[in-house]
Amino acid sequence: MEETPIFRPSSSTKVVEDMDEFQESLQTIPKKVNWDGRWLCYYNNFWCPERVLKSTIFFQRNFKAKDSDIILASIPKSGTTWLKSLSFSIINRKKCTIPESPLLITNPHDLVRSMEYGLFLNSENPDLEAFSCPRIFSTHLPYHALPQSILNAKCRIIYICRNPLDQFISLRHFLLENSGEDQQKALPIDEAFELFCKGLYPFGPVWDHAEGYWNASLNDVQKVVFLKYEDLKIDATSHVKMLAEFLGFPFSPEEVENGVVEEIVKLCSLENLKNMEVNKNGVVVKSPTVKFKAGSYFRKGEVGDWKNFLNNSMAERYKKIMEEKLGKSGLAFELL
Ligand code: A3P
Repeated sequence: MEETPIFRPSSSTKVVEDMDEFQESLQTIPKKVNWDGRWLCYYNNFWCPERVLKSTIFFQRNFKAKDSDIILASIPKSGTTWLKSLSFSIINRKKCTIPESPLLITNPHDLVRSMEYGLFLNSENPDLEAFSCPRIFSTHLPYHALPQSILNAKCRIIYICRNPLDQFISLRHFLLENSGEDQQKALPIDEAFELFCKGLYPFGPVWDHAEGYWNASLNDVQKVVFLKYEDLKIDATSHVKMLAEFLGFPFSPEEVENGVVEEIVKLCSLENLKNMEVNKNGVVVKSPTVKFKAGSYFRKGEVGDWKNFLNNSMAERYKKIMEEKLGKSGLAFELL
């Protein structure tokens, strides 16, 4: 089989320290157009979408983590919306009961805001003091690129990942559904897959993203928990209990007895969230220029949906790449 060259530019790997340096680096930063026509910049050793490059740098430079903060980390389309819904419900269950849950009237992405796709997209240094503690935020940044203050503080990180083939298909649907008129015509799926095999993916390469959080979870079990979307699908209830413990909000025996865990699982299920008015017709506004249809966050949620779009030899090829990239890390994905 022919070797797939992996894109791995050698420059622009360090964190940009000031905005003059940012303006300068924009001229030289390695860039590639992804299949959807949008630019990805190879910054700080990952493929950063150009439209959030500046907000990523603001986040890296200006965010001041608190020990009580909770960071939900993921690469796009690996279950972020689900994780946001569950974590928000676990933490706020004493403040509002299930029938009063803000999730009934608010999209999960408006309840747990993204750093680079939200808070720092609109302001160089947003005022985050007004958020009630524990603050919950999300990010797609790889572990190595997180702001130093997150690594230094005792804050907790929950990472979710997913079979990359399903993730690739999910992102394709999401971007096509949200493609603006300004975008070039998207590449056909086989050409898009070629780029994916070369590591081109927002915040990727995928293997580096997962391995970074995997290693962090092995090094510090108090700080980082590593989840797989497929495991959550198999048994959401025990994962919700585990997350509640990890976050310092364990369920009491009475809550377990009264079925609170199952109520949270049901509230946050794809079927339930997908059919809410706010998620059917709303728009998630990240900034005046970055908006996504609320409904595009909720599609099928099926394990193995890639089989409807990719053939077995494509999957075999990606499997080999993943095995080679993840090597002896101990991390493996059941791709096929
Ligand atoms: P599909 O496109 O395969 O259906 P993200 O939240 O990271 O953007 O990922 C989106 C994927 O998660 C989509 O997958 C979406 O359908 C699925 N998803 C969204 N909410 C979910 C939920 N509550 N439970 C399970 N899957 C969910």
